[in-house]
Amino acid sequence: MAEPVDIVARAQALLEGASNKLLQGKTVVVTAGGTREPIDAVRFVGNRSSGRMGAAVAAEARRRGAQVTLIASNLSVDPPTGVEVVQAPTAADLAKETLARADADVLVMAAAVADYRPTEAHDGKRPKDDSRWELELEPTDDVLKTLGAESENSRILVGFAAEAGEDGLARARAKRTGKNADLVVYNDVARSDVGFESVENEVVLISEAGERTVEKAPKERVAAEIWDEVERLIEENGGRTAG
Ligand code: CTP
Repeated sequence: MAEPVDIVARAQALLEGASNKLLQGKTVVVTAGGTREPIDAVRFVGNRSSGRMGAAVAAEARRRGAQVTLIASNLSVDPPTGVEVVQAPTAADLAKETLARADADVLVMAAAVADYRPTEAHDGKRPKDDSRWELELEPTDDVLKTLGAESENSRILVGFAAEAGEDGLARARAKRTGKNADLVVYNDVARSDVGFESVENEVVLISEAGERTVEKAPKERVAAEIWDEVERLIEENGGRTAG
């Protein structure tokens, strides 16, 4: 018998009259959450990402018939059913697990990855004393940039740009070209009503062809818009991901 999740997906597709099968059977990798870089056995340098947006992106890809792997960095939400979940608590784990699956048809890098990690983690739990504790941080590898730099590939690469401030959109555009991504999902992290820890998001989808604003909506709705855009890119590229 087919898996219940597949029956539900098929029933939903029929009810909605979904004729678009571009993601059917495609391999999709989604990173989600926020990495934590240990400074000792119990403490870490982290960020506020809940993983809700990435989990919604993974769920929607599964719903459209893709085979989905979710690279999960400390999710504070439940992962969707029907997707393979691979735990990747640190930036190094995320790099290793994602690069091991670089042959996927579509990679969506929704995780907030630490740009720096402590050069050394203290053995065990550092006891409190009166001395200063200075942390030295070293840069992590940029996974999206590494993937984008591979010239001969047929995959679709999606990045996120969490930016704050007036020139955020310009920086997001620069991130797309700098990291050679097909699509960048820009969200303004200075806003408290959307984005981090929120159930809603408002984003701008940036591709070579242009930009489209997705007005404030539940993250599930935003995820559907992202996949609509990816499907458009697949079509436009004449089946770059075909096969
Ligand atoms: N990213 C990545 N590896 C890293 C850092 C970021 O793959 N070490 C990916 C993120 O998953 C996201 C995109 O790059 O899809 C942009 O991440 P962001 O943190 O906004 O940008 P940075 O390139 O780190 O630049 P900055 O922090 O200076 O804005």
